[in-house]
Amino acid sequence: MIRATGLGVEVDGVRILSDVTVALEQPRIAVIGANGSGKSTFARTLNGLVTPSEGTIEVEGTDVAREARRAREVVGFLFTNPDAQILMPTPVEDLALSLRAAGVPRGEIDDRARAALERFGLDGHADQPAYSLSGGQKQLLALAAVLVRAPRVLVADEPTTLLDLGNARRMADLLIDGDAAADRPAQTIVVTHDLDLAARCDIALRFADGRLDEIGEPRDVIERYRAEFA
Ligand SMILES: Nc1ncnc2c1ncn2[C@@H]1O[C@H](COP(=O)(O)OP(=O)(O)O)[C@@H](O)[C@H]1O
Ligand SMILES: [Mg+2]
Repeated sequence: MIRATGLGVEVDGVRILSDVTVALEQPRIAVIGANGSGKSTFARTLNGLVTPSEGTIEVEGTDVAREARRAREVVGFLFTNPDAQILMPTPVEDLALSLRAAGVPRGEIDDRARAALERFGLDGHADQPAYSLSGGQKQLLALAAVLVRAPRVLVADEPTTLLDLGNARRMADLLIDGDAAADRPAQTIVVTHDLDLAARCDIALRFADGRLDEIGEPRDVIERYRAEFA
């Protein structure tokens, strides 16, 4: 459950998000809207990367600004660019880092890291230098590293923007349908310009000029968004 109440963000005297009040309990939530409309700012308030200037944001009963540490456990965040997220020299070490951070016992880490790589189709690349992975493989690794910590909520900010068609589809399938073998987040929020991906969600939010402009059935929200450009 995500609850924003009068949420606003101001940076250096400039208002970039205003008066967002919304309660979300759907499993899959799309966030759409033009560049600069406030999507990433909203997404980032969900795990404390951006601090509200007004109002509150609560995820699974955790006030994100007040309980920043807890919020980072509850909410996993997937960035557009996996290079921003891959911290270790190889995939298996990167997953091991996530598992250690999640408090997994030392003796289980290597097995669990390798099992996770297999679930994400990266088992042939466990020990390959991470920089040498393809863009699609890097994004899969970044997603694996987030999900292996079993966050209750996953926020993905334009996770398919840098990917080719095949990899974008695969990433979309993982976000929407998930992986039965993995711990699924209770909720996934995906910021995207891919309106086919947005259409597969349970609800869509459209931002415009730093405000939550519309919320509803993805089909309807997308149709009105498209109509503006027709
Ligand atoms: N740290 C910041 N300092 C100043 N302006 C910012 C900052 N972060 C975002 N903005 C501005 O706020 C607006 C909304 O940004 P953002 O949330 O990234 O939009 P979106 O993700 O929808 O493209 C943009 O005009 C952007 O330039
Ligand atoms: Mg953005």
